Amino acid sequence: MERSHNNGKLNLSHLDQEVTLVGWVSKRRNLGALLFIDLRDRSGIVQVVVDENVVVPDVRNEYVLQVKGRVAHRSAPNPKLKTGEIEVIAKEIVVLNTAKTTPLIIADETDALEETRLKYRYLDLRRPCMQRYFDIRDAIKMTVHSFMHQHDFIEIETPMLCASSPEGAKEYLVPSRIHHGKFYALPQSPQMFKQLLMVAGFERYYQIARCFRDEDLRADRQPDFTQIDIETSFLDQDQFLSLMEQLIKEIFKNTLGYEVVLPLRQITYQEAMERFGSDKPDTRFGLELHNLKEIFKESPFTSFSSAEALRAIVVPGVAETTSRKVIDTLVLEAKKYGLGGLTVIKKENDVLTGSVLKFLKEEEIKALDAELKLNNNDIVIIAAGNDNRVTPLLGALRNQYAHQLGLIKEGTYDLLWVIDFPMFEKDVESGAISTTHHPFTRPRDEDLPYLDTDPTKVLGYAYDIVINGYEVGGGTLRIFDQEVQRKIFRVLGLTDEEINKKFGYFVDALQYGTPPHAGMAFGLDRLAMILGHTNNIRDVIAFPKNLAAIDPMTNAPTSVTDQQLEELGLVIKK
Ligand code: AMO
Repeated sequence: MERSHNNGKLNLSHLDQEVTLVGWVSKRRNLGALLFIDLRDRSGIVQVVVDENVVVPDVRNEYVLQVKGRVAHRSAPNPKLKTGEIEVIAKEIVVLNTAKTTPLIIADETDALEETRLKYRYLDLRRPCMQRYFDIRDAIKMTVHSFMHQHDFIEIETPMLCASSPEGAKEYLVPSRIHHGKFYALPQSPQMFKQLLMVAGFERYYQIARCFRDEDLRADRQPDFTQIDIETSFLDQDQFLSLMEQLIKEIFKNTLGYEVVLPLRQITYQEAMERFGSDKPDTRFGLELHNLKEIFKESPFTSFSSAEALRAIVVPGVAETTSRKVIDTLVLEAKKYGLGGLTVIKKENDVLTGSVLKFLKEEEIKALDAELKLNNNDIVIIAAGNDNRVTPLLGALRNQYAHQLGLIKEGTYDLLWVIDFPMFEKDVESGAISTTHHPFTRPRDEDLPYLDTDPTKVLGYAYDIVINGYEVGGGTLRIFDQEVQRKIFRVLGLTDEEINKKFGYFVDALQYGTPPHAGMAFGLDRLAMILGHTNNIRDVIAFPKNLAAIDPMTNAPTSVTDQQLEELGLVIKK
């Protein structure tokens, strides 16, 4: 196909040159004697001018054309367009293909519903703003490949059809045709394989790895997503984190030209929870949590004095707009977190008001005002109850108010490590113990004795990288001692028989000279979201699922034929 230039790359240096262009009709305007066509290809848009001397075939939006013509000065330049100073005077136009009227407009601005965008994803992806997301995604991957190879890493693929080994989320299962009644599981991450590659002596592994998790979807979660997965041997935590920071710095530089200042801040999980109510704190704004336990420890108001946790946030300047209705919505939010409700106190005209005040002592109210340094028109939101509920509720409200009050400056990046996570968490209702990262995390040496007494006290060598309030990556130093590994599985309630059945090969491997090793995985999609400035993970995945885990284009998941079920030895329960 004859083509001399990319449309978006034409500029004044091509003046008077004869060019042959191809592309899609982005827009056409017929001004009587002249026809203007915006011709779009992957590189951008250029204006083509067609006068009466040229035979113009029927040309409509999204038709595919080949245009021969000459580059000319544009009398009225368009500063919004990269090619705005020139135009192409057409000499010949060939229609390479026609197009039906598209169900959505192919332009950055769209009012199409997301369902329509996903159903006609190939048209949605034709929009220039969508293509930019994939340029960013690609730039991240190119940086990863080059950085990792410069630092002696080797990329190795691990299997997609694996043995079932729940890591936290539910697994996707694949029935075996050859072995009826048996299933492969799709990997939630390459965790155990990459550790085995360390046992195998590769020392530095990475992989841009597809992962699968059957969990409830959110704006930053997809059932199949991609990790930049990394594992190293013989590095301690500081050495490893420092290497990962350099990678992140390089990614920001190559995609946005943004200089990340190293070393990144590190805060402990405990500090993150106490100050920001989240293990992925957005520290671009204040609204920090306050602990009110001390002020109310002797209070006659037992909802405060006897609560396991009593914490608050101060929201400035909203007392006037905090109506009864607003308070009701806050209470509903608290109920979602399993609390009975919450308390709002306002400061107006130098006095505190709120229905709770009648239960509090004068000196308690004074101490509250002084401790929180309240200004007129501030409100205080107080939550009392189980700490596992109080803290995340206030953390969520803190984020909501920051957005509502415009406290976050666009185009700023806040990167930090959260470290020293507890190894285990206990479900408030069932009391069941699960791991906060995964069962391969090495417990801190000084906490090992707690494994036998109170596992919830054990902290692990674990770290998450948090950017603008998103958990973008996480990892841990690994257990490399078979006995410690068995102990962790036992804490999680597995019997020796179950350990051998599920993880026997892995625990066995640890006995054959396993090096100390550490690793982490970055969520490639989340990184692309942040660098692409979107808060919707579906924007940076070419063919994503919707929030109901359905692909509206292919309709996956679909039913299968009776014959397929028969071959797999499966019967669907009605
Ligand atoms: P983790 O489970 O923390 O760790 O996952 C690492 C990173 O992957 C991203 N991520 C997701 N992105 C989109 N959709 C999802 N459903 C989803 N789930 C996770 C997040 C997260 O920080 N094997 C360990 C890592 C290790 O220890 O080396 C792991 O998978 O950005």
